[in-house]
Amino acid sequence: MKIAIINGPNLNLLGKRETDIYGTESFDQFFEKLKTKFTEAELVYFQSNIEGELVNAIQEYGFSMDGIILNPAAYTHTSVAIGDAVAAVKASVVEVHISNVHAREDFRKFSHVSGKCAGSIFGLGLKGYELAITWLLTNH
Ligand code: DQA
Repeated sequence: MKIAIINGPNLNLLGKRETDIYGTESFDQFFEKLKTKFTEAELVYFQSNIEGELVNAIQEYGFSMDGIILNPAAYTHTSVAIGDAVAAVKASVVEVHISNVHAREDFRKFSHVSGKCAGSIFGLGLKGYELAITWLLTNH
């Protein structure tokens, strides 16, 4: 099964950024572990700080992969274009947030993508990506 992980803005700074909220592990380190753990999946990883590049990646992987794990980061709360891209593609999309967006500022409680996704995981740290892969592998 082919799964793309797509991360939005500032997630390239994982491990350095607000470590009390997002932890001390970089996504590159974590992605190496994911590839070792889920050998039955073909995993690719894409990160961008640019909204249009995220839309392009959702469009591309949304028709060439079976599943997408999407953390649009701050664009979750602002981007109609990313929500529309999720609605447009064939792949199953799982929304993941590392932090518990419902326990933070009010503006983080709204998501343009949740209603277009198969499901959402938030507040479980990087483990959320593992749970999303497991769900895609067993329920797709
Ligand atoms: C985030 C939550 C967003 O509100 C925030 O803007 C992020 C990361 C998360 O993974 O917890 O950048 O998507």
